[in-house]
Amino acid sequence: MSRETERRVGNLLSSSQRAAPAIDSAASGQGDRQPSNGLKITKPVSTLESSSAKEKLSIELKQRQDKLMASNSVKELQSFRKKLPAYKVKGEFLNAVSENQVLVISGETGCGKTTQLPQYILEEEIARLCGAHCSIICTQPRRISAISVAARISSERGENLGETVGYQIRLEAKRSDQTRLLFCTTGVLLRQLVQDPDLTGVSHLLVDEIHERGMNEDFLLIILRDLLPRRPDLRLILMSATINANLFSKYFGNAQIIHIPGLTFPVTELFLEDILEKSRYKIQSEAGSFQGNSRRRKREQDSKKDPLTELFEDVDISSEYKNYSASTRLSLEAWSGSLLDLGLVEATVEFICRHEGDGAILVFLTGWDEISKLLDRIKGNKLLGDPSKFSVLPLHGSMPTINQREIFDRPPPNKRKIVLATNIAESSITIDDVVYVVDCGKAKETSYDALNKLACLLPSWISKASAHQRRGRAGRVQPGVCYRLYPKIIHNAMLQYQLPEILRTPLQELCLHIKSLQLGTVGSFLAKALQPPDPLSVQNAIELLKTIGALDDNEELTPLGRHLCTLPLDPNIGKMLLLGSIFQCLNPALTIAAALAHRDPFVLPIDRKNEADAAKRSFAGDSCSDHIALVKAFEGYKEAKHNRNERAFCWENFLSPITLQMMEDMREQFLTLLADIGFVDISRGARAYNQYSHDLEMVSAILCAGLYPNVVQCKRRGKRTAFYTKEVGKVDIHPASVNAGVHLFPLPYMVYSEKVKTTSIYIRDSTNISDYALLLFGGSLFPSNNGEGIEMLGGYLHFSASKSVLELIKKLRAELDKLLWRK
Ligand code: CDP
Ligand code: MG
Repeated sequence: MSRETERRVGNLLSSSQRAAPAIDSAASGQGDRQPSNGLKITKPVSTLESSSAKEKLSIELKQRQDKLMASNSVKELQSFRKKLPAYKVKGEFLNAVSENQVLVISGETGCGKTTQLPQYILEEEIARLCGAHCSIICTQPRRISAISVAARISSERGENLGETVGYQIRLEAKRSDQTRLLFCTTGVLLRQLVQDPDLTGVSHLLVDEIHERGMNEDFLLIILRDLLPRRPDLRLILMSATINANLFSKYFGNAQIIHIPGLTFPVTELFLEDILEKSRYKIQSEAGSFQGNSRRRKREQDSKKDPLTELFEDVDISSEYKNYSASTRLSLEAWSGSLLDLGLVEATVEFICRHEGDGAILVFLTGWDEISKLLDRIKGNKLLGDPSKFSVLPLHGSMPTINQREIFDRPPPNKRKIVLATNIAESSITIDDVVYVVDCGKAKETSYDALNKLACLLPSWISKASAHQRRGRAGRVQPGVCYRLYPKIIHNAMLQYQLPEILRTPLQELCLHIKSLQLGTVGSFLAKALQPPDPLSVQNAIELLKTIGALDDNEELTPLGRHLCTLPLDPNIGKMLLLGSIFQCLNPALTIAAALAHRDPFVLPIDRKNEADAAKRSFAGDSCSDHIALVKAFEGYKEAKHNRNERAFCWENFLSPITLQMMEDMREQFLTLLADIGFVDISRGARAYNQYSHDLEMVSAILCAGLYPNVVQCKRRGKRTAFYTKEVGKVDIHPASVNAGVHLFPLPYMVYSEKVKTTSIYIRDSTNISDYALLLFGGSLFPSNNGEGIEMLGGYLHFSASKSVLELIKKLRAELDKLLWRK
């Protein structure tokens, strides 16, 4: 996309709702900002036609590298690089790269895999005067690490980001024609493969963090294994923390493994029972030192009891869990509800600050919610004393950018750095000066129940391998301590490794990818994976794609399916955006899509639940829709922002300003995507796409199109309504929904964003819809057996209508398909 389009996207949003565009052109520096689709990541090589031009560029690159390396400005960083464990294997590594097509590298986190190994290749290629011919790509599972690593390497080389080293993530890039080492997310590379299945021009491909077993990485490995024989000159380097390197080597025909020996200090491991004992001991011994002091001082000391001790005063931990003697997964679940709360985490942080020596604290939490809550609690904790003595920093994968230096740098003396992170700090981001790790033992993990078609994102116990990784974060510069906020017996029962993502997530987006890459039938392709997914999950995904009209009966992509492939989004969300733009209710579609793709901006404080519910209900009005409440809340936020009082607005209405800000950014990204694939013509202005944005029926219909087949029937049971889904039968409305507690609904159906299973099966975020919305925007229609009606969802939904009505609806739908065809 050109700068001009980019500027216009900003204008389009600002003329409707937006203030200043969040991604400003200046942020893209000298590198071209290019969309994720339509972009060749190998462009620098392929655009250099003549060999003399290549020769000239190779010489230039070498001269510049020699000059930079000799300059004083990078001396310190260059000597830092030589101290990293990776440096010891540099020669062996470069030899192995030239002699093997595939190489597996394993090494402790922080040893220099990500920042050093691609850089060694780059330096070597440039030194050999092959600079112009090389194109090194290194994939990262997360946007945030792609940016931070590219920035780090650029500064190690004394260059600006986007010169020889750049990055490219969804809708954002910093790179130029000079760029020879590009960090990109795995998703960007996968989309690149659609246009260029042979990765023409790429000389070296490094796939990082493969031990995490992310879905994209597992998928990429299947493709690469098939690609290697076609590209004998391509070098593939797989990088992993010290977990199961053999598995990957075997997958690539016993590829050579190089292990980078670690340089870590011993880390003392304290389980919950040890922590309790330690805290009791500390308090007692400190109280002892007061003997002989005045009674007043002693009383003061008593009243300052350590919160950690207080928390457990009445709890005998051993009796809490001794019943769970069997080392089974069951015991983990049984224990999961008890004791593990933010109070404990806070008390532990406080204990370390008060009783332990200097050093940064890294706290592992499960998600953004916990991070922001703990951030507030620590900042408001008076026992910690002077707030200027602490810098409490969040670190989360979906943060738009991180305030990098603050996280990596050492704080000034007398100031303690406390980083609150998700499992992103486990292996992809290293903070050197961490001495204390506080591990809550859990991570948010998606799981997928193929039988009930139920996807859950719930905190669950981490694996032993993750626990080991977390512990290792404390011993980078000196001996450290790992505070595990769970008993040893829980640790013993943890799984050795986490299940790979491909085995625990719905596969529809992956199936679309497989189709668009023309990799054959989905089932036989996925059977080649490191650990192939359950055929039932594959079948569910195919069925869903057929249901939403992305695949036809022969499992081939439909025009809608082809559009959805180009959108790096869940297919349902993608469909809602496409129809939102066609039916001119783009603004609500963007807002709802942003909330679905990111998170719900409504916060639910336990102590003020009723007030929060009331605020949300007032946004919903009489729409019977959580999604409309969301749209109205976002509109209110935009207006408040315009009047510069968005903080107060969010506070009064129980909204998270951080989430809303993130949604603003995402809306802009989505709009750019739609412009990219021709569904929005920016020059037509916002009005052209928002004519029906305030039409409740129209917006509900678009919601139905996007959320289908997430449909429940509302059945009247006396004075109340009961809700039924096709897969699991009776469900409940989530208590946080505006529809909770409503006895009767005006319309017969409800669409919902997700089903979650906690104490019972709940549907979250629902919208009451009419049968017309379903008939026009739902899935395939069939005449019912008696010829007197129409059926959907394999006969689960039944509408009485004559044949001629069915014909009419089919005609209308065909017109809709034509609209999609035309794009
Ligand atoms: O990939 P791996 O975990 O093996 O290590 P890395 O990311 O290459 O980091 C090597 C070292 O570089 C870390 O231990 C940090 O000291 C440093 N580093 C940094 O200071 N700032 C960054 N943005 C990245 C790495
Ligand atoms: Mg790394």
